[in-house]
Amino acid sequence: MNKKHFFKVVANLLFIGGAFVLSSCCGKCCKNETCPNEGAAVTAASTVDSSAIVLDAISKRTSIRAYQETPVEDWKVEKILRAGMAAPSAMNRQPWSFTVVNDKAILKQIADSAPNAGMAANAPLAIVVCGDMDKAIEGDAREFWVQDASAATENILLAAHALGLGAVWTGAYPNVAKAKMFAGILNIPESQTVLCVIPMGYPAESPAPKDKWNEGNVHYNVWK
Ligand SMILES: Cc1cc2nc3c(=O)[nH]c(=O)nc-3n(C[C@H](O)[C@H](O)[C@H](O)COP(=O)(O)O)c2cc1C
Repeated sequence: MNKKHFFKVVANLLFIGGAFVLSSCCGKCCKNETCPNEGAAVTAASTVDSSAIVLDAISKRTSIRAYQETPVEDWKVEKILRAGMAAPSAMNRQPWSFTVVNDKAILKQIADSAPNAGMAANAPLAIVVCGDMDKAIEGDAREFWVQDASAATENILLAAHALGLGAVWTGAYPNVAKAKMFAGILNIPESQTVLCVIPMGYPAESPAPKDKWNEGNVHYNVWK
């Protein structure tokens, strides 16, 4: 093999190796145990502007209220829950719990009992976000649990969007009667307060994201 041929072979091998890294399967996804091409996603992401990916997900997320019947994969549910639990919380109390509902009859019961969560009847899945009062801060700062569980909820909505799913925040607390009604359906203990129900699934509608930028909402230093 002459020198020129040798370099050509090496270049080809490097090209094939690179392509393999970008397209290789993590090995478990074929068994539906984890995400497809997890390693590849990281490799590819490192070559592009990751801030653009994050900001794009934030600006393109929109409430989705119609879903396909396709079930949501378990690995996606876990990633979404991990995103929820990655949220900030006051004093890092993490005063939350998450109930995953994928039983059709229970989803219908939720929908029938609360018109504002009616889309749950046609969703393959809902995540019920609760504040855990056993972990909430005692005293004056107790209500911080609402902000903590809300931060987790927004993370869940963004993660669902990033994974190609659609979801919507349907409110319960501070409607105490509604929060108790959802808790009753799901046998959620009294230590937990239902903040919201998040029906989700593969989207069966594609509403345009709303452009909410409003310069009038912004102030610098002392209000003029
Ligand atoms: C605290 C809260 C409660 C909400 N409750 C409901 C609800 O009960 N039913 C519903 O369809 N959407 C509900 N939404 C979704 C809002 O209607 C939606 O976020 C808003 O119209 C903005 O649209 P977007 O999410 O597409 O940007 C709720 C959102 C928040 C933050």
